[in-house]
Amino acid sequence: MRLPDVGWMKRRAVHRYDDQTAELASAVIAYAQERLRLDPAPLDAPLSPAELAARAGETVTPDGLGGAEALRVFDEVLARACISTDHPRYLSFIPAAPTRAAVLFDLVVGASSIYGGSWLEGAGAVYAENQALRWLADLAGLPSSAGGVFVPGGTVGNLSALVAARHTARARCSARAEAADGPSVPPARWSFVCGEEAHSSLAEAARVMDVDVVVAPSGDGGRFTGAALAATVDGLAADRRAGVFAVVATAGSTQFGLVDDLRGLAEAAGERGLWLHVDGAYGLAAIAAPSARARFDGLELADSLIVDPHKWLFAPFDACALIYREPALARAAHTQQAGYLDVLGSGDWNPSDFAVGLSRRARGLPFWFSLAVHGTRAYTEAVESALRTTSVCVDQIRARPWLELVGAPELSVVVFRRPGWTPAQYHAWSDRLLRDGLAFVTPTVHDGETLARFAIVSPRTTPNDTALILDTMLADPGPAT
Ligand SMILES: Cc1ncc(COP(=O)(O)O)c(C=O)c1O
Repeated sequence: MRLPDVGWMKRRAVHRYDDQTAELASAVIAYAQERLRLDPAPLDAPLSPAELAARAGETVTPDGLGGAEALRVFDEVLARACISTDHPRYLSFIPAAPTRAAVLFDLVVGASSIYGGSWLEGAGAVYAENQALRWLADLAGLPSSAGGVFVPGGTVGNLSALVAARHTARARCSARAEAADGPSVPPARWSFVCGEEAHSSLAEAARVMDVDVVVAPSGDGGRFTGAALAATVDGLAADRRAGVFAVVATAGSTQFGLVDDLRGLAEAAGERGLWLHVDGAYGLAAIAAPSARARFDGLELADSLIVDPHKWLFAPFDACALIYREPALARAAHTQQAGYLDVLGSGDWNPSDFAVGLSRRARGLPFWFSLAVHGTRAYTEAVESALRTTSVCVDQIRARPWLELVGAPELSVVVFRRPGWTPAQYHAWSDRLLRDGLAFVTPTVHDGETLARFAIVSPRTTPNDTALILDTMLADPGPAT
C-alpha cells in the first residue's frame, strides 16, 4: 500500500519556487527597495523584551506564520526596534554607511549560496574578494605577495593575526632549539605589547589565546611610540622578554581616532624580531584619503593589518579585511587538517587557511561589488568627505562657548565636553536625542570623565547635522543635579 507522503510534499514545497515564493520574493525585494530609497531611514530605537513580546508575540510556531505575516512583523515591529546604523546622525561607537550598491549586492550574495572558504568551491568569489584586498594592500604599501581574507570583524581579525604571529614565534623557537641540537624551550608565558588606547578586542584575543598583554605607557598625546615599545620590552625581565611575540599598533583608536607611531613601532619591533600587527579596524580606511595618508607612514612595514569595510569603507556588516605580508605564515597557523578536506589543494588560495574558522560567507563581495561599480576614486572622495565634515565640526565646537574640544581629532572622531555637566546630564541628553528621533550620540568615558563623542564616517553626515546636535547641548539643561 502506498502511503501519502505529506511531510515530504511539505518539505519540497519550502524549497520550490512556486507562486507563493514568487509573491514573497516580490514583497521582500519591495521591502529592501523601500529601505534603500529612504534618505534617511528613521533612526528608530530599541524596545524592552516585554514590549517586543507584546507587539511581536510568538513568531516561531509549528505551522509557520506565512511569508506575508512574518515580513509584516519584521517591518512593523522588529525592524523598528533596531537603530539605523546608517542614519547620518548616528554618531555613536563606529557608525555604518554602506553604499546602495554594496547593500544590493549583499542580497545577491545571500541568494547565491556561495561557499567562500575554498578556491575549489568559490573560486570566482575568492578572485573578486582578493582584488578588493589587493586594493587595500597596495594602499598600505605591502608587497605584491601580501594577501589574506575577509573575516566577520575586527575582533576576529585581530585574534587571527595574533594566532599567526604566535605560531610563527613558536616555530622560530623550535627551529632555534633544533639548530642548537637541544630541546625546544618555549617561554613560560607568551605576550604581546600594545598601547594604552588599544581596542578592547585585544584583551579578548589574549584571553582566548591564554597569553598576556603588556601595555606600554602612551606618550605623545596618547600615541604608542617606538620609544615606548623599546623601553617597555627592554625593561622586562629576560624570561618575560623571551615570551613577547608581537606588537599591536592602533591606526585610528576607537576613542579618539589616534594613529600610533607606526614607523617608530615598526623599527623597534624589527630590531627585536617582533611581529607588527596594525589594528586599523576603523581608521585604516583613511589610507584611501590622500589628505590623511601621511599619518600612516611606516604601515608598509607591518606583518599584518586589519581594516573593517563595515566601518568606514561603506560595506554592510560584517566584513573585516585581514591582510598578511607573508600569507604562508598565516597558512601554517590556520589551515585545518582533516581527511575530508584533503581534496582542497594546498596550492590554491583557500580563504579559510588564513583565519580562525572554516565555513565562510563570501562577505567581502558586497565591498568588492561597490568598488567595482563606483571605482576607487569614489572611495577616496567619500573618505575625504567625512574628514572635511569632521574639520568643520571642530570649528563649530570652538565657536560655541558652552563646549570644549578634548584633543584635536586626527581622523574623524571628535571628543568634547560641556563643562559643568554631570554624567547623568550627558546620558539624559543622549537619551532625549534618541527618543526624539533626532540623533544617536552616546557619551564615552575617558580617564574617569564622561564626555560627548562623535564618530563621523558617512558622507551623508553634513555640518548641518553636527551643528543641530551641538545646539541641543545649549538648549538642554539635562536633569537637575
Ligand atoms: C580599533 C578597533 N579595533 C577592533 C575593533 C573590533 O571590531 P569588530 O567590532 O568589527 O569586531 C573595533 C571596533 O570598533 C575598533 O574600533
